[in-house]
Amino acid sequence: MAKTKTDKLDLNAHPMGAASDDAVVMTERLRRHLGYLGLTQTLSTLDDLLAWATRERPGHTALLEHVLGAEVDHKSAARLDRRIRVSGLVERKTLEAFNWDFQPSLDKSLVLELARLDFVGRHDDLVITGKSGTGKSHVLKALGLRACVQGISLRYARCVDLLADLHAGLADGTYARRLKAWARPDFLVIDDVGLGQVRQRDDEPTAAHTLFNLVDRRHGKLSTAVTSNIDLRQWGRYLGDATVAAAILDRLAMHAIRIDIDGPSYRQHVAAERAGKAPASDAPAA
Ligand SMILES: Nc1ncnc2c1ncn2[C@@H]1O[C@H](COP(=O)(O)OP(=O)(O)OP(=O)(O)O)[C@@H](O)[C@H]1O
Ligand SMILES: [Mg+2]
Repeated sequence: MAKTKTDKLDLNAHPMGAASDDAVVMTERLRRHLGYLGLTQTLSTLDDLLAWATRERPGHTALLEHVLGAEVDHKSAARLDRRIRVSGLVERKTLEAFNWDFQPSLDKSLVLELARLDFVGRHDDLVITGKSGTGKSHVLKALGLRACVQGISLRYARCVDLLADLHAGLADGTYARRLKAWARPDFLVIDDVGLGQVRQRDDEPTAAHTLFNLVDRRHGKLSTAVTSNIDLRQWGRYLGDATVAAAILDRLAMHAIRIDIDGPSYRQHVAAERAGKAPASDAPAA
């Protein structure tokens, strides 16, 4: 009896070859599924994962947990990165890297309590004052980073940059939108009030008015933290209007936790250490 074409093919096919062809097709389909679902980490490490599964032979539950757990880790790290980038926080300072012994006037237990960020939930404000280099920005950047980790919405800016952003909005008609954006986050850090020149063109409101608009909108509803290396009594002169500056401080003071760091500059400490530890080749010949 004449054989059909199909029979011929079946007779010649190697059983292992068929199995591995199936595996290749299935792996390709798996890649497409992963791409469609946006499981990019699993997709990019699929070969390693399959090799691991072949080697270790985990149970079904363990295999799923291993694969999805790695994907979750990757996605949450990417989300945190994005949250930090969008917040404006450039430097990732931590309280773990803070040298408490160097700054004994700073109440460590208070700062660690603040790092739990309950005050953000209570819509309290925070004002940190102190001379240059005493660690004011370091502490607030570290609190900001923790906020990002906890999923609290954060915006961080130096005071001059925040003012420049809002005033740019006056020129192109986006002031209201920008003000809304700065007013929205759960936690707003206005760093370095007193540092950098506050410019004001004739057609612009004073820095005090602009800052007042923002602080007033957030006051009692959302948490704002400020650092200043000038005395709060100097804010009027710095921001260009003593009455409005007083109104800002009045609002901040009502719900604010106050910290004053009365101590040495860490920058000077680092500079002195560097000078002391200069390599021998740098030292003048005896
Ligand atoms: N106690 C500390 N331990 C470790 N690093 C510190 C400490 N204090 C400050 N630093 C570091 O010293 C540098 C200056 O600190 P920071 O920017 O916080 O000072 P500042 O009080 O904000 O000063 P300024 O008023 O000039 O803005 C930063 O790099 C910061 O990380
Ligand atoms: Mg600072």
